[in-house]
Amino acid sequence: MLIANFEIRKVCQRHLHLSKTVEKLKGKGKSSQEWLKRQASDPYVQKALDENYRCRSAFKLIEINDKYKILRPGQVVIDCGAAPGSWCQVAAQKVAKHKQGIGTVIGIDLQNFEPIDGVHVLSECDFTLPESQSKILDILNGQKADVILSDMAPNASGIKSMDHDVIIELCQAVLQFGLWVLKPGGTILCKLWMGANQKSFENDLKSNFESVKVVKPASSRSDSSEIFLLARNFQLITWPDMYK
Ligand SMILES: C[S@@+](CC[C@H](N)C(=O)[O-])C[C@H]1O[C@@H](n2cnc3c(N)ncnc32)[C@H](O)[C@@H]1O
Repeated sequence: MLIANFEIRKVCQRHLHLSKTVEKLKGKGKSSQEWLKRQASDPYVQKALDENYRCRSAFKLIEINDKYKILRPGQVVIDCGAAPGSWCQVAAQKVAKHKQGIGTVIGIDLQNFEPIDGVHVLSECDFTLPESQSKILDILNGQKADVILSDMAPNASGIKSMDHDVIIELCQAVLQFGLWVLKPGGTILCKLWMGANQKSFENDLKSNFESVKVVKPASSRSDSSEIFLLARNFQLITWPDMYK
């Protein structure tokens, strides 16, 4: 499984052609073979290669942004769980070329990931740690953020309720940070895997955002419990109980 994960990251990170990866993974076990089969028949994988995105996830953000227009020129965007970098690529394209400035994108991830034009890359940083958040604040240099994106996902254990709890903790860390750094009117888009604590987290968002929607883009696999919560128009009204 470790070998499979390592190979998956390599595919995303280096734009390797699928056929090369097939060669590498030959004989590496059933789950790798299944993953490869699924990748080979996935139109978004080919589209990502064609359009020079680091992985298929780009299209989730593109779809959400096409519908809800969350990214605009000149904005300050923080992308949590950014590796290999396709959401940063999309965000950098959208915030660039503004009369008043070029916008700022900060991408942070536990993994090492390659530099991206127009993006401050914070590799090998755990977003939940104060020292990592200080690095973001240093880059912000007193500015507030317009948008916080989180596609963070823990390594799944396969035990759904446990994986759900861990991803909810990551979402809570995003909200907690957002309460400090978001501009009034700001946006959080965060990924989670559905489960028992989803509603309570949605309610935490609702305490401080005018609108909270559950979003499932077409490019998010239908057999995955992944959904995105889109919280818009931030107003700091209450600190959720857990953060008091
Ligand atoms: C689905 S991938 C993100 C893909 C990315 N949005 C893209 O388009 O390239 C999830 C990422 O979350 C990262 N992650 C998980 N927990 C994290 C944490 N505590 N701090 C930072 N990154 C984290 C993982 O290392 C992984 O790279």
